[in-house]
Amino acid sequence: MKQRKIILDCDPGHDDAIAIVLAGNHPNLELLGITVESGNQTLEKTGRNALHLVQYLKLNVPVCKGVPYPIIREVEVCDAIHGESGLDGFDFPQLEINYDQRPAIDFLIQTLTQSEEPITVVTTGPMTNLALAMRTNPKIIENIEEVVLMGGSFTNGNVSPAAEFNILCDPEAAYIVFTSGCKITMVGLDVTRNVLVYPEIIQRMEPIQTIASELFVKLMNVFNENQKKVFGWEGAPLHDPVTIAYLIDQTILTTKYVHTEIDISHGPSYGRTNCDLPNYLHLEPNTYVATGIDVEKFWQIIEAGLKRY
Ligand code: RIB
Ligand code: CA
Repeated sequence: MKQRKIILDCDPGHDDAIAIVLAGNHPNLELLGITVESGNQTLEKTGRNALHLVQYLKLNVPVCKGVPYPIIREVEVCDAIHGESGLDGFDFPQLEINYDQRPAIDFLIQTLTQSEEPITVVTTGPMTNLALAMRTNPKIIENIEEVVLMGGSFTNGNVSPAAEFNILCDPEAAYIVFTSGCKITMVGLDVTRNVLVYPEIIQRMEPIQTIASELFVKLMNVFNENQKKVFGWEGAPLHDPVTIAYLIDQTILTTKYVHTEIDISHGPSYGRTNCDLPNYLHLEPNTYVATGIDVEKFWQIIEAGLKRY
């Protein structure tokens, strides 16, 4: 089967880390690079976390440092969930690798303009890097096969009643991407809130005994503790890996092709993904919005991914 070329733009982050695990060595995916931005923590920390993950998982993948700030807003980290380091709960070996010398925007532009085949860009953090790359060289849009993002919600948000974290961190960036004309698949809270890392999921993965399963167990225990403190949940929603699981097996998601607009007005709905599922406005659809997920199939993909290391 032909490998699908992907670039993963992220803000590791506990759930981003599992997205990297899944994307890092699947036979159907060619992970061309990881670009990072601030979000769950500052860029210094998310970037360092990405390097630690690539080194620990023995991935031969460039890590490119992105833009440290959103386009308009200030950085607002999510340390209550991801901790001071942004990836609390795992003691990585001494870091011996460094960033690729290309800034994320340059890497995105160079890779997308030089690739013979279209590339899927997966974002699991704020969309600043991708948006600024599009603005810097709009020609890259022609070679983007699909943007698959973890972000948004057609119901409630998780940082305001209206908005989800990745979008609200940088609404203007999301607006640029959603109006770019690319094929967009939005994996929002509506489906990611169904894949909760209950203790029995951790117990299911523990006997796998690979470096990846050890990482999963230790990170998810801390992720659960923090999510319980903040949201009172018994299992943390494993948001980001749903994007990669979808690329591995598109049947895990049910999607609806609708018009989606990002609210960039500075009111109570700032950063909301307004997905017109009922088609009230009769506007041109621009987004495949995930409306359903096969939860067991998702955990089977996670389990298989942990076993591949
Ligand atoms: O709202 C969930 C998203 O915000 C996830 O990507 C998580 O990593 C945080 O970045
Ligand atoms: Ca993330």
